[in-house]
Amino acid sequence: MKTGTTEGSPALDLGRMGIGTNVWGRGGKPLSGVLELFDAAMAAGIRLIDSAEIYQGGGSERSIGSALAERRAGIATAAQPVILSKFFPWPWRLSRSSLESALKGSLGRLGLARLDLYLLHFPLPPIPLETWVTALGDAVEARLARSVGVSNCDSTQVRKAHEVLAKRGIALACDEVEYSLLNRRSELNGTISACRELGVAVIAYRPLGSGILPAASPTIPGLRKLMAPKTDAKGLQDLRSLLLSIGESRGGKTAAQVALNWTMTKGTIPIPGARTIAHLAENVGALDWKLDAGEIEALERAADRATGTR
Ligand SMILES: NC(=O)c1ccc[n+]([C@@H]2O[C@H](COP(=O)([O-])OP(=O)(O)OC[C@H]3O[C@@H](n4cnc5c(N)ncnc54)[C@H](OP(=O)(O)O)[C@@H]3O)[C@@H](O)[C@H]2O)c1
Repeated sequence: MKTGTTEGSPALDLGRMGIGTNVWGRGGKPLSGVLELFDAAMAAGIRLIDSAEIYQGGGSERSIGSALAERRAGIATAAQPVILSKFFPWPWRLSRSSLESALKGSLGRLGLARLDLYLLHFPLPPIPLETWVTALGDAVEARLARSVGVSNCDSTQVRKAHEVLAKRGIALACDEVEYSLLNRRSELNGTISACRELGVAVIAYRPLGSGILPAASPTIPGLRKLMAPKTDAKGLQDLRSLLLSIGESRGGKTAAQVALNWTMTKGTIPIPGARTIAHLAENVGALDWKLDAGEIEALERAADRATGTR
């Protein structure tokens, strides 16, 4: 999927699926086996690699940087990965210049001179969204970022960000939002349709519902429980059974593949978090086929029962 074009630059091709890296590199150190995972992602045609300065204290960016240092020169220009990172608006970051310093920190960990895609992680107070979006525009003009976007913005915020950048001839490349069968807020509140109207790509984070959707048992361990959408146990069990039965009727697709395929039927780009080649390979099996309208409707009915949405 190609994003809107900034004047004078080619559109950025994000592909149909990316990979999330928020658990790469615990303790700030590169993830062990990251080169093999990176190679497997490139071989599978996954180009978008989602990171952020706050993931594992920079360990996620360092993991990606270590793989890029080994491999980037050997990858053809047309197949280069798209590296995405994010600026976190901590309350002590009070001026536009803090975004440029943070971006330079990310570039250092990634070993890059210019980032493909740089996002505002959250539109948090006290600094207005417009200030950070203006700073993102500055980063494009300073050639520190090829393109820029936002994350966790609703339709009003996306429209504002788009307008601020458009005045300078800069495209808003994306809004990265939580989106899965267990969290359809961005669809139901009009954010996704506003993005479509403006030519802004929607990147779907936690597309597997923090791993709940493909879990063999609905018992969710540790931290995942805190972040996970609230679900009714029986409703979740029914949803999982439906994911599995649709998968079976589709020639042996797994629950994860059906759940990811659903996000793509809505025109979003899922970035499932994966640390293992097995998970990555399974997730790639969500590409190149499409759920039909009846399956989509049945999944949404079951999901809404599981989350008590409607
Ligand atoms: N912009 C934002 O504010 C924001 C917020 C949160 C996340 N994100 C991004 O979104 C990415 C994805 O979110 P997420 O990782 O929190 O949630 P997720 O992708 O919904 O779920 C990831 C979990 O699912 C498991 N998993 C992955 N593939 C699987 C498969 N095929 N079968 C069974 N389990 C599978 C992983 O297991 P393992 O633990 O064993 O690997 C992991 O625990 C993050 O990595 C991050 O890059 C962005």
